[in-house]
Amino acid sequence: MIRRFRFGNPIETDSIPEKPPVTEEALPYFDVTEDGTELRLPLGASRVYGLGEQVRGINKRGWTYTSNNSDQPHHTETQHSLYASHNFLLADGLDTEEGRLPVRFGVYFDYPGAVTYDIGYTDTDQMRISFPDANYDAYIIDGEGDLDIISQFRALIGRSYIPPKWAFGFGQCRWSYMSEDEVRGVADGYQKNGIPLDMIYLDIDYMKDYKDFTVNEETFPDFASFVQEMKKRHIHLVPIIDAGVRIEKGYKTYEEGVADNYFCKDEDGKDFVAAVWPGKVHFPDFLNSGARRWFGDSYRFLLDQGIEGFWNDMNEPAIFYSEKNLKRFFEKIESYKGKNLDIQSFFEMTGLAAGLANNEEDYRSFYHDMDGIRVRHDRVHNLFGYNMTRAAGEAFERNVPEKRILMFSRSSFIGSHRYGGIWMGDNTSWWSHMKLELAMLANLNMTGYLYTGADIGGFGGDTTPDLVLRWLALGIFTPLMRNHSAMGTRYQEAYRFGHLDDYRNILRLRYALIPYIYSEYMKAATENAMYAKPLAFMYPDDARAAEIEDELIIGNEILIAPVMEQNKTGRFVYLPEDMRLFRFRSADDFDTEDLAKGDHYVKCAVNEVLIFVRKGHMVPLAKPADSVDQIDWNDLTWIGYPDGKETVYELYNDDGETKDYDPAGHITRIVKRGSDL
Ligand code: GLC
Repeated sequence: MIRRFRFGNPIETDSIPEKPPVTEEALPYFDVTEDGTELRLPLGASRVYGLGEQVRGINKRGWTYTSNNSDQPHHTETQHSLYASHNFLLADGLDTEEGRLPVRFGVYFDYPGAVTYDIGYTDTDQMRISFPDANYDAYIIDGEGDLDIISQFRALIGRSYIPPKWAFGFGQCRWSYMSEDEVRGVADGYQKNGIPLDMIYLDIDYMKDYKDFTVNEETFPDFASFVQEMKKRHIHLVPIIDAGVRIEKGYKTYEEGVADNYFCKDEDGKDFVAAVWPGKVHFPDFLNSGARRWFGDSYRFLLDQGIEGFWNDMNEPAIFYSEKNLKRFFEKIESYKGKNLDIQSFFEMTGLAAGLANNEEDYRSFYHDMDGIRVRHDRVHNLFGYNMTRAAGEAFERNVPEKRILMFSRSSFIGSHRYGGIWMGDNTSWWSHMKLELAMLANLNMTGYLYTGADIGGFGGDTTPDLVLRWLALGIFTPLMRNHSAMGTRYQEAYRFGHLDDYRNILRLRYALIPYIYSEYMKAATENAMYAKPLAFMYPDDARAAEIEDELIIGNEILIAPVMEQNKTGRFVYLPEDMRLFRFRSADDFDTEDLAKGDHYVKCAVNEVLIFVRKGHMVPLAKPADSVDQIDWNDLTWIGYPDGKETVYELYNDDGETKDYDPAGHITRIVKRGSDL
């Protein structure tokens, strides 16, 4: 059951396609302050889930989080915001101490500005949620259990984005492959070594002077035929699109945006000037439907050259500096000249440069035209990236309605999950960021982002061969599987390190698993279910399972427990039911072990992947292929753990390109007897 409660006069976010009517009842569970800006809830023993892309664990208790989309390359535990705002929480206090009211409910706050969630930070036993102003809709979702609450919420926010099937392959990225030749070299690196690959991502340097919807003709002299050349090799090129449009006379996108008044305005009504990669830019006003249409249609420049997928970036929006702030910065710096800098002034001075980027003051100094309503940016800050993705998604629907286009974004807000996926932003080559990815997968699935994954190997900092290998072993279960690294860091393509067989074997296992991954993804998307689930949701009566944050249930049949620490040859695994362990060295070389419910220490060498199959379940395996379109879905073998009865699996498959997702036409019920497995 979903009830909608209204406070004040909220700004329309379009995050809910069809809203239930507002109820006149008082908001349950929470104590609301008189002015409506703060809600309090005694936490008891509740676990608190949700918030999608955020720092820390699956259970969010013990920290303060703020929905404030931020360009945040330092994903340390002490941050409060990342690139996204997903204002959904699920409180599960059913095992609360005796005498307390047992509660379990979901809540979504439809509010486009900064919301702060103090979840047992100020007071261990209390959650405090605060808003800058009391204009929001709160949706309370009651249900039978955690998974039921999630699927009701997901039905409310609308079906999650479905990418083309090839986007379930593996992709290689780097900031940047500078030329056609360099891209060819990457394709060779994979294909000559027999390592499967479906995508090579183009980062900002494919453009001319970082201008959206241009190609650098010196380094990519015949882009359209290069796209075809790669396609013949079964590789899709996926270019980046940035939010800021370079200010340059004669540049088409700039001229069009100025002429049609499609850029955000400053206080004086002039086009707001910020700076990002290209230097000075204007921001398209994605909150305006005309601007959205115009910008979305601009992707045609690349679609017409054979491109079938994009990633949207810097759309929090990231701001290096604004003209106004930069001027103030230089004045201030000047004032230090000749002074004896002391503890105060020295740190003040060094902080000034750091404070230029993503400055809150800049977010308060430009405006949107929300189809006739002028709104200051900070009030709707979290909608910006969402509407950039929406601009693209709506345009694809208009321009290529029959075809799925790959789209994912850095910044997001609930609603954009209908138009694209997200990647988890600029992580670092740290083992702890593998753990962060695993936790985020669970929380992002709750909030509708199924097509997601982190930069494998880590984006910032130098990686290590074992980190890449272990991270691939986690990444083979994420729908978006991409290796990406930053300029100036060690190259980390899968063929860069010794022991090439190990990388090849893990990636070939990914391709063997694609029938399972795709089938489970499609069932989750079409049924508003979760593809990656925390154990707590699947085993609600198991107190041990509730605390497991380094394992996940992937789809409905398997549990994964990746090794996420350096120099380890195994790990402890908690199994919430009897399972059969498949220890893969390659797609066709594995051993098995039957393990009872409970705790186990399980060996897992650096080149092995563990898959735990639930009793009475089975999983299809394809013959490994070099690209998704070469997988033979008619030649599947099955691995499983029969329980004496027939084992059944519902296999979803479709053409992977068009948009008929009706499960009825695409699900085959496969039945195996024990002896067949
Ligand atoms: C941002 C993106 C990163 C990209 C870089 C250059 O930091 O998050 O993925 O490589 O910009 O475009």
